[in-house]
Amino acid sequence: MTMSEIESEPTESRAETAAEEALRPHAEQAFADELAALAAADDRPRPARWRLSPWAVATYLLGGTLPDGTVITPKYVGPRRIVEVAVTTLATDRALLLLGVPGTAKTWVSEHLAAAVSGDSTLLVQGTAGTPEEAIRYGWNYAQLLANGPSRAALVPSPVMRAMAQGMTARVEELTRIPADVQDTLITILSEKTLPIPELGAETQAVRGFNLIATANDRDRGVNELSSALRRRFNTVVLPLPATAEEEVDIVSRRVDQLGRSLDLPAVPDGMAEIHRVVTVFRELRDGVTADGRTKLKSPSGTLSTAEAISVVTGGLALAAHFGDGVLRAGDVAAGILGAVVRDPAADRVIWQEYLETVVRERDGWKDFYRACREVSV
Ligand SMILES: Nc1ncnc2c1ncn2[C@@H]1O[C@H](COP(=O)(O)OP(=O)(O)OP(=O)(O)O)[C@@H](O)[C@H]1O
Ligand SMILES: [Mg+2]
Repeated sequence: MTMSEIESEPTESRAETAAEEALRPHAEQAFADELAALAAADDRPRPARWRLSPWAVATYLLGGTLPDGTVITPKYVGPRRIVEVAVTTLATDRALLLLGVPGTAKTWVSEHLAAAVSGDSTLLVQGTAGTPEEAIRYGWNYAQLLANGPSRAALVPSPVMRAMAQGMTARVEELTRIPADVQDTLITILSEKTLPIPELGAETQAVRGFNLIATANDRDRGVNELSSALRRRFNTVVLPLPATAEEEVDIVSRRVDQLGRSLDLPAVPDGMAEIHRVVTVFRELRDGVTADGRTKLKSPSGTLSTAEAISVVTGGLALAAHFGDGVLRAGDVAAGILGAVVRDPAADRVIWQEYLETVVRERDGWKDFYRACREVSV
């Protein structure tokens, strides 16, 4: 399609085409059908401006079957209570802080909560060491500001300000990476539910329905610890690592299947054995002990999270599709595993070699995997 064709297309259908063609659609686009079915079946009370009742939001996240037979796929696999507490928090005057080690689905849960509650997961501030106050409050359109002075028209609202004005869910990613003084901008927003605009002698008051979901990484603790004043404005929910290998295999295969479909990769079922293997290796190295509890292991420096297992398997499926026979095999995941485990070339390599020779080599039915790992290790 040429530029002029794109421009002559009506805006509405252009937005639809973009959503279909998007490399990674937003949760509310990818699961629009499920959200619509839930809204239709949902006769429980909804908090102000919520698209669904808390019960329906929890069902959207955890999965279930509606009375008319519509199947809602699970987005989050984990304790039901965690999701219930998270959803309930959003209906109170406290904000929600999702805390956990890397790769425990904090960002994922935050996106899906915002999609289910407000129908929009894009009111997002990405926290970094360089996040300025304007990213949380508002900025200015300088051309307008210089030409006409400060006015509402010259003001560029942040995603948080827009969420306040519209009674929606705002998201702040990696809250603890944001410098402490910038973090504290959130205190007034969360306690007074207002955002003062001194330049205009005005304010934006939060409308009912507004709330905020922040995520923070356990490993970043100490980088910019939350002030106690700010922490009190949040209800903290800790997302755990998957409790069992079966649960983790389930998470990985589901996500890989979804990702694979958007990348036109082969179906997962043929690769279950290999997924099991990746998860076993990751869990054993992470826990520092073999699955049978018999052999102690050293843990490498990288975080061998579920998210990493998902990338290794997706990468393996792509290899199998483009250079193999379409079936996921040991050789397709070996290089990915090595890359995830060996982050520090010196120390991690020794840990990996030891694991390879003492555990992988001796294990029944793992000869193909041992050989594949040896091939990529040299
Ligand atoms: N319990 C789980 N249920 C469903 N998906 C999960 C689970 N744990 C991890 N995942 C998957 O792992 C991937 C990565 O998760 P996500 O990016 O949300 O992690 P995170 O906790 O935000 O990590 P980080 O601290 O690195 O930002 C997502 O694709 C998500 O689907
Ligand atoms: Mg994250």
